[in-house]
Amino acid sequence: MRHLMSPLDLTVEELDNILNLANDIELHPEKYAHACEGKKLATLFYEPSTRTRLSHEAAMLNLGGSVLGFSSADSCSASKGESVSDTIRMVSCYADICAMRHPKEGAPMVACRHSSIPVINAGDGGHQHPTQTLTDLLTIRSLKGRLDNLKIGLCGDLKFGRTVHSLIHALVRYTGIEFVLISPEELRLPGYMREDVLEKHNVPYKEVVRMEEALPELDILYMTRVQKERFFNEEDYVRMKDFYILDAKKMELANEDMLVLHPLPRVNEIAVEVDKDPRAAYFKQVQYGVYVRMALILTLLEIDVK
Ligand code: NCD
Repeated sequence: MRHLMSPLDLTVEELDNILNLANDIELHPEKYAHACEGKKLATLFYEPSTRTRLSHEAAMLNLGGSVLGFSSADSCSASKGESVSDTIRMVSCYADICAMRHPKEGAPMVACRHSSIPVINAGDGGHQHPTQTLTDLLTIRSLKGRLDNLKIGLCGDLKFGRTVHSLIHALVRYTGIEFVLISPEELRLPGYMREDVLEKHNVPYKEVVRMEEALPELDILYMTRVQKERFFNEEDYVRMKDFYILDAKKMELANEDMLVLHPLPRVNEIAVEVDKDPRAAYFKQVQYGVYVRMALILTLLEIDVK
């Protein structure tokens, strides 16, 4: 049985297969409409979410399956002190596959050790968010036509942003990838990511503080929200929260074919006026997220649609 804890649980070939399947789902949704009939997806969300929970649920419903679950720690027995390992033992009796989000790094890993159904990590603390990465890769490959030879700017909260950590892990396996890490000093990419991932794979990168400096050279700009819930004090958050604001004026500095991605939710870091720029891809990204989660569910359940 397979779980998805990190993008590295999939080889590049397996990843390509999932993206190809997602493309086929986009083209022929009717072919897949009954593929998961009789199957259930449980969403176990101990942390707030809009897109990730709803898109896993939409994905299962689009496949003809059904969904059950909880959307906050207060609405399940965690509030009575039940452990993740006990909860997953129960859920294994109710569902065929589950997606778990948890504020503690590693919680979904604990779950998969006690689970008899596939577990998808839907975000664990500041650590990983592999299904967002599948979404990001499908968006980039569909709109840019490739996953290699790209200069990618990652901007904002690179310290706590789990989507950034997962995306870097996945992209360093492709050739010709370069990163520009755009962040304030306090929110730099953690040392273990720079040393154990970027440097270990000889991936060129530079760190800059000013977004304007990076914009003209990028193929992709990946914006992120400052992760308020991971700050130890409110004051630091308030100081950091509006550090970057991408607006129409700054977009003038960027290439005509640069794409702007964002895992969402956006707070202030992208001005609403940018939404009408054809380079803004963050709402398309949401749609790709459903296709790729459909492909992932089929893959983990080993359902082959002819
Ligand atoms: C991200 C997350 O939860 O890490 N959201 C999402 O899943 N699309 C990003 C964020 O919350 O900033």
